[in-house]
Amino acid sequence: MPDKPSHSFPKGFLWGTATSSHQIEGGTLNDWTIWEPGHTHDGSISGAACDSYRRFKEDIGLAKKINSNAYRFSIEWSRIEPRQQQFSQQAIQHYQEVVDECRRQKIEPVVTIYHFTQPIWFAELGGWNNPAAPQIFNNYVLYLAQNLKRVKIWCTINEPGLYVWNAYGQGKWPPQKYGLWSWWTASNNLIKSHRLAYRTLHLMQKNCQVGIANNSQAIEPINNHCLNRFIGRIANYLINDHFFQKTAGCHDYLGINYYFHRQIGLGRRPKNQQWHNDLGWEIYPQGLYQVLMAAKKYNLPIYILENGLADSQDQHRQQFITEHLAMVYRAIHDGCQVKGYFHWSLLDNFEWKWGFKPRFGLYAVDYQSLERRPRPSSRTYAKICKNNGF
Ligand code: FCB
Repeated sequence: MPDKPSHSFPKGFLWGTATSSHQIEGGTLNDWTIWEPGHTHDGSISGAACDSYRRFKEDIGLAKKINSNAYRFSIEWSRIEPRQQQFSQQAIQHYQEVVDECRRQKIEPVVTIYHFTQPIWFAELGGWNNPAAPQIFNNYVLYLAQNLKRVKIWCTINEPGLYVWNAYGQGKWPPQKYGLWSWWTASNNLIKSHRLAYRTLHLMQKNCQVGIANNSQAIEPINNHCLNRFIGRIANYLINDHFFQKTAGCHDYLGINYYFHRQIGLGRRPKNQQWHNDLGWEIYPQGLYQVLMAAKKYNLPIYILENGLADSQDQHRQQFITEHLAMVYRAIHDGCQVKGYFHWSLLDNFEWKWGFKPRFGLYAVDYQSLERRPRPSSRTYAKICKNNGF
């Protein structure tokens, strides 16, 4: 790759990586921890995961080593509020130290408040099906806003649409209370929760930026039949627009996580020539352009808060990064206000129901010794971050 970039990104662009608490810090008093035994594909449980709860300084150092200037991580609600209304001094101090360490290393912390895991007590009260859930969540948000004043960019909820579908719609994830009604009430409570959280955060911190991270997908009907075009439009609304529209007016930016391309509808699927990652997910960089251009109508700044692949041999990651970034570059050129890109993930971690087998990290983790080793693609990304382009 030449040193002088032909694709220069706007000044101040955030180059980051993303993680989430449960996936790198491991189990606590949350619903996933009690659910995992017997439910993951490889038989593993999160345990201490990458032990990042203790090694956070080293991990922020790794983010620094690849020249990134931002780091997205999440706060574990069950550590902060292990029992309802009882906030843990030790836990909040811990996350204050994480934020301070980011600031010390000149890395912008981007903090997710809810990334798929709920405290056991909250699950026992009915989780997101409880009509009081938005208020209960808001107490936790208020506590964070009061105690984490150095955070400027908040992401309230990670992938609300995908999460409620997996946890409440289909019941593949805890709490497995599934069905249409359960899915619908959980969705509405998450929408209310974001709205409340948005107000609370702005009340406490005037100049912060608040958004959600949507799992946005490139959706196309498999052929031009009017029924398939109709199905495509419905799916597109539900997956890409529903949460953004129901929370309109409560976003300072749009958070987009991009992994999937779907050709949907009735009939025979066109033969697919694309490459795939270790989980069989199709890799389709043009889809990121499609998703960004579709989000342009909201007229808001955009952060790509997640994009990455499971690739244990690091065969495709370099190409993956440059091809996706070429699409981001093109979208910026075509008028999208993309302000940052966060690669998923900084390091290998616990991939939910898939367990530890998928390897998403720019750094490989040896789960015996917990040693972190840079993969060759991390050098590609480091160069891009340093040059603000490629
Ligand atoms: C996203 C999740 C993230 C991680 C990646 C691979 O949907 O937000 O936690 O599991 O997928």
